[in-house]
Parts: sequence; C-alpha cells; structure tokens
Amino acid sequence: MSNQSNTVVYHLEASEFNWEVAPGKVIPAWGFNQQVPAPVLRAKKGDTLIVRIKNNLKEATMVHWHGIRLPASMDGTGEVQKPIEPGAEFEYRFIVPDAGTFWYHSHQNETVQMERGMYGALIIEDETDPQFDNEKVYVIDDMKLNEANQFTEAKGALSRLVEKHDGREGETALINGKENPTFTIHAGQIERWRFINSASARYFRMQLGGHPFQIIGTAGGLLEEPRMVTEILITPGERVDIVAGPFKSGDHFEIEALPYNRVTMLRAKKRIYGHVRIDAPKESTAFVPNQLRRIEPIAPQDARVTRKVKLSVGPNLKRGLDFLVNDKLHSNDLPVRVDELQVWEISNSSRMDHPFHLHGFFFQLLEMNGKAPAYKAWKDTLNLPPRSKAKIAWIPDNRPGQWMYHCHIIEHHAAGMMANFEVLGTDDEVGKYMMNDGHCQHN
Ligand code: C2O
Ligand code: CU
Repeated sequence: MSNQSNTVVYHLEASEFNWEVAPGKVIPAWGFNQQVPAPVLRAKKGDTLIVRIKNNLKEATMVHWHGIRLPASMDGTGEVQKPIEPGAEFEYRFIVPDAGTFWYHSHQNETVQMERGMYGALIIEDETDPQFDNEKVYVIDDMKLNEANQFTEAKGALSRLVEKHDGREGETALINGKENPTFTIHAGQIERWRFINSASARYFRMQLGGHPFQIIGTAGGLLEEPRMVTEILITPGERVDIVAGPFKSGDHFEIEALPYNRVTMLRAKKRIYGHVRIDAPKESTAFVPNQLRRIEPIAPQDARVTRKVKLSVGPNLKRGLDFLVNDKLHSNDLPVRVDELQVWEISNSSRMDHPFHLHGFFFQLLEMNGKAPAYKAWKDTLNLPPRSKAKIAWIPDNRPGQWMYHCHIIEHHAAGMMANFEVLGTDDEVGKYMMNDGHCQHN
C-alpha cells in the first residue's frame, strides 16, 4: 500500500515573449515560462501542490486552477486574493484531492491574457488509473491575429459586436501552441489522450478522421465505463479523456473539428488541428477495464430545485449586448451552506449556447430538458444550448468562502454573465468572508 502523499513544487514566471506557432509565424505571446501552453504540471492524487508565480508582465495577473477542489483562498479570483502586481510573486498551495485532467489559466483580464497564451494543463494521476502504453495531452486553442500576426482589438462597430456576441474566434487553430502539429502513435498500441479546450470561445467538436474511440473521462475524472463514439463536443473549459488506438501501421488521420452551430454570427466550418501518423507496430501492455469506477448519484432526477439560475442575453443601447445571470450583470447570488444539497435549475433563455462553469465543486447532471443524461459523470462545465434547461446537483463540502460561476466563453464572462456567491460554514453569518470594502479576506 503506497498511500504516501508528497509535495510537488513548480515555479512559473509570467512574461511576454515571442512564440513560433508555425515555421516563420512568430507571435507576441504572453505566457508562463516562455511557453504556449504553459508547462504541463503533474501531481498524484492527494499530493500538496505548490506553485510559485512570478509576474513579469506589465500588468497584474492571477491564476485559477480550473476544476480543482481547493480552498476558496487559492481559487485565483478577485474575490479571494489581491492580483499579483508586476514584479510581485504569489504562492498557490493546495492539496489535489481528485485524479483527472485539469488546467490552469489567468483569471485577470482574461480576454487578453488567456487569448495570448496564459494557460496550461494540470494532470492529476492516481495509482488506480487504467494502464496505457503512452499518454498525450492536447491543449486546444485558437487565436485571432491580423496579417502581421499581432493581436488586435476588433475594429468598427460590427466586428466589435460580432466578437462580443460570438466570443473571440480566430483562424489560427492550435494544439499545444502549434499550428498543424504531427503526432505519432505505434500501430497496435493504446494511448490515453487528454483533451483540454482552452479557447476563449471556440467549440471543439472533435473527430479523429472518423475512427471510433472511447471516452473514459470528463472534467471530474473517470466515467463508470468507456463509451464508444466517433465524435465528441468539447466546449471552452471542458476536458475529455479518450482511449486512442489500436491503429493500423502506415495509416494516418487528422484531428479535426467538425462545424458546430452554436448560433454565432460568423458561420462555423470544419477545421484541421493536427495530424496523427501511425508508426511501426509495437506490443501493447495497456489494460482498460470495462468498469472504470462507480459514480454514486447524489440526488434523484426529481429532486426539488433549490435555486434557479437564468442565463440570458439582452440588447443594450450603450453596450450593444448585455450578458446576464438572473437578469443582472456581474451578479451576486445568495449564499449556500456547507453540506446542504444544491439542486440548481440552469436555464438558457438566449438564442445561443453558453458553457456554464462552477468554480471549485463538481456537479452531476440530473436532467437536460427534462431527460436524464445517457451516462453519469462528474462535471464542472456544462453546455447549455439555446432555450435549454438543465438540472444539476452538487454538495458544498467544507470549503467555505467566496466562489463563482460563469459562462466560459470569456467575452461573455467579461460582459457580465457571471455571479459570485458565498459558501457558509455550518454556523457562519452571511458576509463573514467579505472584507469591509466589499473584497474578501486573503488568508
Ligand atoms: Cu476556467 Cu472562472 O474559469
Ligand atoms: Cu456565454
């Protein structure tokens, strides 16, 4: 029984640098340790992760650990910490309690900082994970650059409206910071491929040249059993783990995104992200069991709704469009109490999709438009198609403090589609975690 937990330390430095996305195509990126994406961080379930961030940007930053069930004070939002000013350092320190595919990204001026490359994968392993011949992490992004390969703001009223409505989508499609990279896998071998959608707004309806593959995990770790599919939708913020292979030697295919109509002003089209080449055969020692784990339901489908969250988009004379939660911009929602079951009805009354993300806690989908989902999964991000209604359940475990939820289309989040709320300890008063100036205590 090796149940030993370790401490894993990483140092990250945020800065501006030149990054080559394709031969000769150099962009002025912002990122960590001069890489886009930032380094893959790895730890084992139960480890203490320490990440020291030095900010060498010309503006403040903060880092959010998307999907990790950490203490509120480590969540990397403006409600729980002061931004890391230029020249300053901050140490994030928390236990990583769950295995799975997570990621980290800037949570300050995100429409700029994330777009320019401030994101990376965070992989938490477990000794009970299925055995693979190899593993690959694919961080998916797109960037919107002008002819000189620079980031520019949308110019003119119409393109500004399009960028606000659709979110920022660009023609530079990236896997792990590169345009059209080639990956290889040995014929006969079976690999775990972890996909992370770090794009500001682009939906990634992923297919592998039509080859069937098995999904084994979502945002909150493994499913109960592998599910065979030929494509999977990965919205901004989401992660999906799949079983890739075995493939035949000499074959090759593309990792591509099929058009997904999320009711944007600009039309979706098919897009190639990368190539996979099948190399000479090699023996496989992979073993993926039929039963990956058990996921106990935390509430029945007909559980009584304890809260309604309405996502909507409305016209605004000054701003063009407002992105709202319960009819408010940047709203505050009511507190919840530790251990009290939350059954939230999330409705999308707008005519476009929104990926709903809850910070710090996993939820289970009880129903979507009145129907139970096809399989059980733990999630932290859920897509809501136009005019849809989802029912989710989650339990605030003992991590009181300030938390938030928002649309993970970064431009929608910035335009107001978000809410803060407090998780209260069993006998805390409302507002305990607020500082007098309305900001939270940083401990
Ligand atoms: Cu990955 Cu507040 O989000
Ligand atoms: Cu949205």
